[in-house]
Amino acid sequence: MQISQRTQVGIVGAGPAGLVLSHLLYLQGIDSVVVENRSRQYVEGRVRAGVLEQGTVDLLTDMGVGERMKAEGLVHYGIELRFGGQGHRIDFQDLTDGKGITIYSQHEVLKVLNNARVATGGQVLFEVENVSVHDFDNSKPKIRYEKDGNACELTCDFIAGCDGFHGVCRPSIPSGVLTEYVREYPFGWLGILADAPPSSEELIYTYHDRGFALLSMRTPQISRLYLQCDPDEDIDAWGDERIWQELQIRLSSTGWKLTEGPILQKGVTGMRSFVVEPMQYGRLFLAGDSAHIVPPTGAKGLNLAVADVQVLARALARFYATGNQCQLNNYSHNCLRRVWKVQRFSWWMTSMLHRFPDENPFDQRRQLAELDYVTSSRAAAKTLAENYVGLPMQ
Ligand code: APR
Ligand code: PHB
Repeated sequence: MQISQRTQVGIVGAGPAGLVLSHLLYLQGIDSVVVENRSRQYVEGRVRAGVLEQGTVDLLTDMGVGERMKAEGLVHYGIELRFGGQGHRIDFQDLTDGKGITIYSQHEVLKVLNNARVATGGQVLFEVENVSVHDFDNSKPKIRYEKDGNACELTCDFIAGCDGFHGVCRPSIPSGVLTEYVREYPFGWLGILADAPPSSEELIYTYHDRGFALLSMRTPQISRLYLQCDPDEDIDAWGDERIWQELQIRLSSTGWKLTEGPILQKGVTGMRSFVVEPMQYGRLFLAGDSAHIVPPTGAKGLNLAVADVQVLARALARFYATGNQCQLNNYSHNCLRRVWKVQRFSWWMTSMLHRFPDENPFDQRRQLAELDYVTSSRAAAKTLAENYVGLPMQ
């Protein structure tokens, strides 16, 4: 059976970008439908990022979906940079006039957003198949998909491509329109989720001869830890004991102890920096990971996705209220200014903290000097702090 439907904004992908956009539009009285190829259970269970910038926290709060985050999130006012076995605190509160970050799992944010969409009659269609986007270079864009064996067509005014790096929207833009800017890193992160109380109140980013390590957390009972590894590292070669042993070595510091516990999940992720320009073609707007990827050092991916859709929601609200397309036309330009600054920061944190296979002793000395500078100069620490808590939303 062929099913036809109409909405104002058709959104592909129910990740942070798609769901925040859909709810922001609802709050402005704009109708949207989200199509997602995974199940709700999968999306809400997938362990991803966990650091929310102040601006992201403020936005979710203003949207009325911040209650659980406020109750359960862990507010941090600093991070530690550890090198040469010594810890150095970057004090965000002092360096950014009181700003901080909130540790709260991305999938918990998604659960709350899904509930809010359902409670307000929003349409988020999970487990749709064969999604494709059409006619976005004229005024009647369409999203086609299959659901429960039916062929469906959603006609909309605009399409938001919030379908992540591997989605269908970006590749649907005619060739020659987009320019891709890419940097691959010659390493990955081996990440674990452990049933162990975090051994530090704040995150610890460690530079070590054997490679980078990071101590993070999800709750006061659950630690999240990462080790720099080869990009194609075989996770099966890493038994739990080996992982803890390596973490103990890289994170070691006098008078400090890393608490171990059962490993609940483990995996390897690659690292890349990626941007497409422009982030718009006709009536198709790319937002979040579909338009850009950052390496995880600095935890910017989720926050950047939220920043994009904030710009997009504002531009769409202006259009529907006044017919003025100015902000929509400037969407890409406005987003990219912030995107590139965040790219720079994520690349810089990554470059400062990891060992590179082609580095020489000069490079290593330079990295250590940079860490020394960042932790001893107020001006340098301030640039790290203001980027980490989040640059202002445009
Ligand atoms: N059709 C429908 N949905 C799709 C398709 C498709 N063809 N392809 C991908 N999706 C869905 C994915 O299943 C996913 O739920 O789009 C969603 C994209 O979500 P994310 O990858 O989380 O991207 P985004 O919303 O931009 O958020 C980016 O979240 O997970 C982090 O590392 C990520 O921090 C970054 C941020
Ligand atoms: C995480 O908790 O998953 C995390 C924290 C900080 C980062 C990256 C990931 O820089």
